[in-house]
Amino acid sequence: MIATPHLQALRDAAVQARARAYAPYSRFQVGAALLSADGTIFPGCNVENSSYPAGICAERGALAAAVAAGHRVFSHVVIITEAEHPTPPCGVCRQALVEFSSQLEIISVTTAGAETIWSLADLLPSPFTPQSLPHL
Ligand code: THU
Repeated sequence: MIATPHLQALRDAAVQARARAYAPYSRFQVGAALLSADGTIFPGCNVENSSYPAGICAERGALAAAVAAGHRVFSHVVIITEAEHPTPPCGVCRQALVEFSSQLEIISVTTAGAETIWSLADLLPSPFTPQSLPHL
C-alpha cells in the first residue's frame, strides 16, 4: 500500500502537470505522475500535435522523463482527467509501462473526485515483455 504522503504528492504532481497539457485538438487534458521505486516523482501531460499521430500521452511523457533521469522501476502512477469516469491508460501506454514495471498500480482520478485503482497486470494480461524476445 502506498504511503499517504507519497500519494498526495503524486496527486498534486498529476494535477499540476494536467494544467500544462497541450491538447488543443482533443481538448482532453491529461495529467500523470509516476512514482519511482526511490520515491522520485515524474510528472507528464499529453502533448498533442497538428500532425495528430505525433502527439504523446501523459503517461508516456512521464515515463520518458523518468527513464532519461535514470529511473527504471516504478510502483505507482496517478492519472487525472476531467472525464466522468476515471480514465484507464491507453493500450500503447500500458505496453510502454509494462516494459519497466509489471507490478505497477494505476490510480486514476477525475477532477470531480472519482477514483479507480487497477494493477497494470489486470489491465494488460499476458503482456509482451523483454523476456518475450528469444535472444534475451
Ligand atoms: N491520452 C493520454 O494522455 N493518456 C491516456 O491514457 C489516454 C489518452 C491523451 C491522448 C490525446 O492527447 C488525448 O488524451 C485524447 O485521446
